[in-house]
Amino acid sequence: MKLVLLGPPGAGKGTQAKVLSEDYNIPHISTGDILREAVKAKTPVGMKAREFMDRGGLVPDEVVIEIVAGRVARPDCKKGFILDGFPRTEAQAKALDSTLAQLKCPIDLVLYFKTSVETIIQRLSGRRVCRNCAATYHIRNIPPKVTGKCDLCGGELYQRDDDKEETVRNRIKVYESTVPQVIDYYEAKGILRTVSGDMDVDEANAYLSKLFLKENIK
Ligand code: AP5
Ligand code: MG
Ligand code: ZN
Repeated sequence: MKLVLLGPPGAGKGTQAKVLSEDYNIPHISTGDILREAVKAKTPVGMKAREFMDRGGLVPDEVVIEIVAGRVARPDCKKGFILDGFPRTEAQAKALDSTLAQLKCPIDLVLYFKTSVETIIQRLSGRRVCRNCAATYHIRNIPPKVTGKCDLCGGELYQRDDDKEETVRNRIKVYESTVPQVIDYYEAKGILRTVSGDMDVDEANAYLSKLFLKENIK
């Protein structure tokens, strides 16, 4: 199963990708997570990415393309992978196609999580992430057992820097000016499927299981 998850900030791409990655035992590749790790570790990529991420803008194509090209070529991606947050521009989508053509493993489906503004705001304002292992919670929807602590590792939960209201507004603006081209690109290839981003986690998972059966995606 080779999937791309598209959708606005807070659509639940990361949350659904994690569930699918466990269900199908394939890697979850989130460019946002990889970049946040790089920022935290102050690597050259992280130093470059930080200013763009802080503003809610896009990190330059060549930086993310190189990260993803390296990642999907690793052996654990042979039987499948879930790309979360990549591609976000048409240039990224074309670069991904050429990388996957070389690896002889084209994308099966692109899931576009179409999500209402109310859901986006409710989800992002309540999101909390583990500083240690990046597990994601929501103060109301998916609360941790102990307030402020990660269920998995006990790490401190924090609010992502780019979840501040002003940065969220910019992320949505950037999303609206770039991702529609990516949606059109995959629609033209016939592999785009639109899914409601407003369903709860289990509902979305059940919906996707049925969709994969129908599309014969394994
Ligand atoms: P990234 O980390 O990818 O951010 P994003 O696309 O804005 O998406 P989010 O992670 O905010 O939302 P999500 O859809 O994953 O939602 P989640 O599952 O967490 O990118 C961050 C930055 O990195 C970008 O701004 C850019 O600078 C850079 N970047 C990344 N990729 C790039 C690229 N390809 N090119 C250039 N730059 C790039 O859910 C949100 C909340 O809702 C959580 O609290 C969760 O618990 C809760 N929730 C999730 N699903 C449900 C549900 N079904 N029901 C109830 N609650 C739910
Ligand atoms: Mg995410
Ligand atoms: Zn943790």
